[in-house]
Amino acid sequence: MELKERALLTGVNLNNDDDFEKSMDELENLAEACGFEVAGRVEQNLRSVNSAFYIGPGKVEETAALVEAMEIDAVIFDNELTPTQQRNLEKALGCRILDRTQLILEIFAQRARTREARLQVEAARLQYMLPRLAGKGVSMDRQGGGGIGTVVRGGGEKKIVLDRRRIEQNIAVLRKELEDLRKDREIQRKRRSESGLPRVALVGYTNAGKSTVMNALVELSQKPDSKKVFEKDMLFATLETSVRSIELPDSRSFLLSDTVGFVSKLPHELVKAFRSTLEEVKEADLLLHVVDASDPEAERQIRVTVDTLEQIGAGDIPVIYVFNKADLAGMAYPFEKDNAIYISAKERIGIRELAELICRYVFRTYIDCMMLIPYEYGNIVSYFRENALVKDIKYESDGTWLQLECSESDYRRYRQFVTEK
Ligand code: GTP
Repeated sequence: MELKERALLTGVNLNNDDDFEKSMDELENLAEACGFEVAGRVEQNLRSVNSAFYIGPGKVEETAALVEAMEIDAVIFDNELTPTQQRNLEKALGCRILDRTQLILEIFAQRARTREARLQVEAARLQYMLPRLAGKGVSMDRQGGGGIGTVVRGGGEKKIVLDRRRIEQNIAVLRKELEDLRKDREIQRKRRSESGLPRVALVGYTNAGKSTVMNALVELSQKPDSKKVFEKDMLFATLETSVRSIELPDSRSFLLSDTVGFVSKLPHELVKAFRSTLEEVKEADLLLHVVDASDPEAERQIRVTVDTLEQIGAGDIPVIYVFNKADLAGMAYPFEKDNAIYISAKERIGIRELAELICRYVFRTYIDCMMLIPYEYGNIVSYFRENALVKDIKYESDGTWLQLECSESDYRRYRQFVTEK
């Protein structure tokens, strides 16, 4: 059996925050997702945090005793620690100290599969480390430096400068490579947007069921070659963006993308690093905001997702709320929202209705018309068969007659063939 590292979770409840326990529960999920065995929690109510240790000095002693007695490998804090606090705690507790940001970075590092995702996580990690290196003259050089918090002279200071320079260079190299990948991605995206198909993006809190919704819609699709995406009961199972073309039984199609899930206090470095992956969301015509309706924390998770969408500049895109896991939540629909649907992606309940709702939205600007296309333009007929809703087709003496619903841009492009609107 694999031996797991044992972790103690620590949080400070500032000013009796109502969400404190929930945040600690989530920290526990994150720690487990990272592979830790959670051995216990240390909590403290404070008005303000201690600048040297984050928690109060008495609590530090108490925690040190627990670390010793319970053979703890790591203490994980729910909030971001300053470099000084981190170093002081490492010294006082004699084990690895992590904060929430580092924990999330670690999970992302474990999950990253594609080259782009790996580079993005690495850039975020280095960016996180950078200010922590030069942290107010605190020693990096443990052998050479004095005690905690002392100003390092001579060799130590030089080492910080060197480390800093090296990391800055690494970040620059990663950024350059990411920039090249971003350009490739942009070309792919452009090609997709030229296809004229409406773009729909799945968003939501991690583990809400986005990948499962995507697979259910792929299954409904007439495209037999569409591959399914990875779905798993694991936080942040999906880090990379995947795009599938969904063709419905009535032959209308749209593009659907699945991307990284959100979580509260998602590190700023990561949001920035995943910017290019999240572009897919920014450019969507419609968002499907997937919510785990069986989670008592659903309302809070919705808020976090909405905030994150605003942060990445996708706050104005129209949304359909997809309340998922109805099989677990029971049929009493607990949410008050317009443009919402209640489904079970896993049990494939409500998928057809979801597809209908998506279509009603993305094709709302489609134009109902009739066209007569001369036989020498057979390729245009094939184009409409793929990209429009062809309701009727007849072969007349002077060409193919179509009754169809097509996009506004196609209507304008082929206006010369329109016989009636
Ligand atoms: P991230 O990649 O972490 O962002 O997750 P995700 O939102 O893509 O979730 P995913 O589709 O991987 O599903 C997470 C877990 O929820 C999996 O174990 C799914 O089987 C489960 N799940 C998804 N939909 C349903 C559902 O309708 N009912 C039930 N009971 N479980 C579901």
